[in-house]
Amino acid sequence: MKTLEVRLAKEADLPALHALFAAALPEVWSMEALLGELQYPYGCLLVALQEGTLVGFADARFFYGDGELTNIGVSSQCRRSGVGTALMEAIFSHARAANTECITLEVRAKNTAAQAFYERLGFVKIGRRPSFYDHPVDDALLYQKKMEE
Ligand SMILES: CC(C)(COP(=O)(O)OP(=O)(O)OC[C@H]1O[C@@H](n2cnc3c(N)ncnc32)[C@H](O)[C@@H]1OP(=O)(O)O)[C@@H](O)C(=O)NCCC(=O)NCCS
Repeated sequence: MKTLEVRLAKEADLPALHALFAAALPEVWSMEALLGELQYPYGCLLVALQEGTLVGFADARFFYGDGELTNIGVSSQCRRSGVGTALMEAIFSHARAANTECITLEVRAKNTAAQAFYERLGFVKIGRRPSFYDHPVDDALLYQKKMEE
């Protein structure tokens, strides 16, 4: 069984994190944006390492009881093996430590895999934002999870 470590990202992780981000998601953040996220005081940027190799990341912000999951991605070779769930469990633990009452997120309407993933973790669909995304155009579905559940 391969070892999996989830921890806060460090500056040295950013090149590998940026490459994984670009491979996993259509809207890649710049290195500057990732560095800003690393330094942002009200949130956490996490990485998942399998046998020391970066295979996933997740980023969330927590502010006055409200949490927002901004991004999550797992390398395509490592999906469906619990890496995403381990990252989200760590996000939930940071959220609780920051007294977060609920976490919201947006997901592309066509991204049914991510929707199944979030629903399995207890997120509930609460809205839709038509044509929210570009390249390609897609609606955003809004999901929320109350942390006491
Ligand atoms: C969404 C994502 C992060 C899930 O990561 P993962 O490591 O594969 O997730 P897990 O292995 O922890 O999956 C947990 C459960 O979620 C559900 N799930 C995950 N991927 C799924 C898929 N492709 N289809 C259906 N259900 C899925 C399943 O219930 C799964 O449990 P199971 O494997 O026992 O059936 C990953 O698919 C990914 O990086 N996708 C591309 C980036 C992306 O879409 N990010 C979200 C943007 S909003």
